[in-house]
Amino acid sequence: MDLPFDGAISAYFNTDAPDDIRAAIKRADKGDILSPSYPHSDRMARKVYEREMAKLQIELVKLQAWAQATGTRIACVFEGRDAAGKGGTISRFRGNLNPRSARVIALAKPTETEATEWYFQRYIKHLPSAGEMVFFDRSWYNRGVVEHVFGFCTPEQRAHFFTQVTPFEEMLIDDGIHLFKFWLNVSRAEQLRRMLARESDPLKQWKLSSIDVKGLAKWDAYSDAIEETLTRSHAAHTPWTVVRSDDKRRARLNAIRTVLHAFDYTRKDEKAIGQIDRGVCGGPDIWD
Ligand code: ADP
Ligand code: AMP
Ligand code: MLT
Repeated sequence: MDLPFDGAISAYFNTDAPDDIRAAIKRADKGDILSPSYPHSDRMARKVYEREMAKLQIELVKLQAWAQATGTRIACVFEGRDAAGKGGTISRFRGNLNPRSARVIALAKPTETEATEWYFQRYIKHLPSAGEMVFFDRSWYNRGVVEHVFGFCTPEQRAHFFTQVTPFEEMLIDDGIHLFKFWLNVSRAEQLRRMLARESDPLKQWKLSSIDVKGLAKWDAYSDAIEETLTRSHAAHTPWTVVRSDDKRRARLNAIRTVLHAFDYTRKDEKAIGQIDRGVCGGPDIWD
C-alpha cells in the first residue's frame, strides 16, 4: 500500500531528531513514561483505568440528562500539539452520550470566504444550544499557535486575536455558556513515539498530515507560541486547564473529572468521580 507520508516520520527520527529524544525512545519499554518530569513513573494499569472510566461514563450520562432537563450549555475546547491526544480524549467523553447533543467540531482550515470574516465568526454557529455539549477539537486558538508557527496569519492578525480572545470568551460565559479550555501537554519524545506508531499503523495514518511532519522540527517555535498563548489567554473567568498527557489514561480520566466536578447535576456521585490528580491536571503552572 502507498502510504501518504511513507517514511517521513522515521526519516526525521533517524536523521534530525535530537539525540536525547532518539535515545529516550530507543531505550523505552512499552509502558515507560518518556517525560522525565511526569509525576508518575509508570502508565496507569489498564484494569484501574477501565474501572475508573466506567464510573465516569455513568456520571457523564447523568450530566447530559441534567443538562438537557435544565437547558445547560457546555463547550469544551481541546488544544495541544499534534498527537497530544485531543481526539482520543474527546471520544472518551462522548463514548456513552447521545451523539445528537454531544457534538464534535473539528473545522478544516478557513475557506477563502471564511478568511475574509471576523476570525471568531465561523466558530460561533457551532456553540452549544440548550442541553448540548460541544467538543472543539482545535479551536480559535489556532491563531495563537499553529497559524503563527506556519505563517498562516500575519503578526498583526495574531496581535488582534489576543486583544479579542478574552472579551470574546467572557461574552460566552456572561451569556451562560459553561466553557472549559483544556490544553493537552505531551513531551517531545512521546509525541515522536506516537507519530512513529501512526506512521506504521494503517488505521492511524489518517491522523498524520504534512503539518505534523513539518511541525516535528518546529518544537521550539511551538513551545514559544504555546507559552505566549497560555499566558495571554488565561484569565480569571476563562482559565486554562493543563492536562499532562504522556499517559493518555490519566489524561482522559482527569479531564472528564474536571467537567463533572464543575456541575451540581442530579444524582451526582462525588465518590464515583474521585479526586483530580493535581500533578496531571491543573493550572498553567504544571506546564512542562
Ligand atoms: P489536525 O492535527 O487537526 O488533524 P493538521 O495538523 O493538519 O490537522 O493541522 C493543524 C491545524 O492547522 C488544523 O486546525 C488546520 O485546520 C490548520 N491549518 C492547516 N493549514 C492551514 C492554513 N493554510 N491556514 C490556516 N489554518 C490551517
Ligand atoms: P491509542 O491507540 O490511541 O490508545 O495509542 C496507543 C499509544 O499511546 C501507545 O503507542 C503509547 O505510545 C501511548 N500511550 C500513552 N499512554 C498510554 C497508556 N497508559 N497505556 C498504553 N499506551 C499509552
Ligand atoms: C490526537 O492525538 O488526537 C491529536 O492531538 C490530534 C493530532 O494529531 O493533531
